[in-house]
Amino acid sequence: MPLLKIAIYPEDEKMLRDRCRPVVKVTPRLQRLIDDMAETMQDAAGVGLAAPQVFVNQRFFIYEWNDRVDALINPEVLEVEGEASEEEGCLSLPRLQGKVVRPTRALVSGVNRRGRRVRIDAEDYLARIFLHEIDHLNGVLFIDKADRTSLHWLTEEEEKERVARVHEVLEKRRRGEPVDVDPRGAG
Ligand code: NI
Repeated sequence: MPLLKIAIYPEDEKMLRDRCRPVVKVTPRLQRLIDDMAETMQDAAGVGLAAPQVFVNQRFFIYEWNDRVDALINPEVLEVEGEASEEEGCLSLPRLQGKVVRPTRALVSGVNRRGRRVRIDAEDYLARIFLHEIDHLNGVLFIDKADRTSLHWLTEEEEKERVARVHEVLEKRRRGEPVDVDPRGAG
C-alpha cells in the first residue's frame, strides 16, 4: 500500500485551513483510504491523522490507541470536562512542539472504520488526540491554541530519535513483546 503525502503548513495552508465536509457513506474505497492513512501515520510516528492532512476534504480522522488503529467518521463532541496543558505535535508541522490547554475528558460520537456508530468517553491523552484531530476538520491547527512561549522546534536529530523510538515500540508490539513506555507521537 502506498504512503500518502502529508499536507505541510504553511505550504499546504489552503487544504489545512478548509472546513471539511461530512462523509456521506462509508464505502470500501474509504476503508482502503483509512488503511493507507494508517500506514502513513505509523511511518511518520504519529498517533492521529486527519483526512485534510492527506488532502482529503472529509470529516474523519484515524487514531492509534491500545495498539489498534481505528477511524472516527463525522465525529461530534458531546461533552467536555476539565482542563490541562500538555505538549503536542502535529504531522503537518514537523518538529514543532508546544503546550496546548485542552479538556481532560471528551465524550465523542461518530462512526468507526467498519461503519458502526460509536460513542467514546475519552480521557487524558485520548481526549487530547480526538480534540486535536477534530480541530483539523475545522481548519484549526494546534499552533492557533498553543501557549506561544512554549513553542519549540526539535532538531532533526531529536526528530529522528523520536521516530526511531516510536518505530521500536511498534515493532515490539508486532512481535508481541511487552512495551514499558508509550512514546507520544504527533497528530
Ligand atoms: Ni495535527
